Amino acid sequence: MTNRTISQIIEPKMVIEGAGVLLRRSIAPHASNLFDPFLLFDHFAFNNPLEGPIRGFPTHPHRGIETVTYMLEGTVRHRDSLGNAGTIAEGDVQWMTSGRGILHEEMPRRSERGNIYGFQLWVNLPAAQKMGEPRYQEVSSGTIPVIEKDGVTIRLVAGEVDGVRGPVTEIAAAPLYMDVKLDPGSRFIYPIPGGHTALMYVFEGTGEFSNEVVEAVSLVKFNDDGDQVEVKTEAGVRFMLIAGAPFKEPIFPYGPFVMNTREEIEETIRELRNGTFIK
Ligand code: FE2
Repeated sequence: MTNRTISQIIEPKMVIEGAGVLLRRSIAPHASNLFDPFLLFDHFAFNNPLEGPIRGFPTHPHRGIETVTYMLEGTVRHRDSLGNAGTIAEGDVQWMTSGRGILHEEMPRRSERGNIYGFQLWVNLPAAQKMGEPRYQEVSSGTIPVIEKDGVTIRLVAGEVDGVRGPVTEIAAAPLYMDVKLDPGSRFIYPIPGGHTALMYVFEGTGEFSNEVVEAVSLVKFNDDGDQVEVKTEAGVRFMLIAGAPFKEPIFPYGPFVMNTREEIEETIRELRNGTFIK
């Protein structure tokens, strides 16, 4: 087995989204599609209760993508045009497949300690599924398998570890999505299929990723030059492992929509204007 080497270490940029929400963005949709099948990775971290109310993300549309919200602290109240409403609580995951379209709002709320800490990943859909039925996989914290072995603790959202499968299934990108925590002095090795894109979002501590030292907070992108990823740590480290099969299709992103062509985006905007976006 050989380790994949690192191709890029990205330092997240602070951006303002929604109704004035400050967040750390590592990647964003771009026609170059360098992270295929992944489009965006945002990290919301509010830890100062004196900052006042969090304004959140009032009603907005999505088409052609999946949005994956994972909360570590605080909650997100959501509501959509299909009549779904609920709360993504601490430790929960919401895997939302927008297909041809939803309108939703996402409103973060602080924990009792005054914090909000979570991630949103956008996963692309292949052309054949972009106009499919919208659907949700709501995963509550207690149903996410936790695998503990030799100082490594994994919360498994999608994929397989030691014969245990994560609760999110039937996603076109065949994704691997897990929260991996390494105690000081431990090591993590995981096989990644050839051709699949592999990323790690390092959000706590420091580790050696394929023999390169990486500190939180950074997004690591691996080359497709080995059959596994390896992380070692002296001090302890925690990261999201994100991997999946690229679709190798052209993309045309526009705000909360990611389609394959300009014409499909123009059609989407027409439908929003004339009120036929939601069927
Ligand atoms: Fe959204």
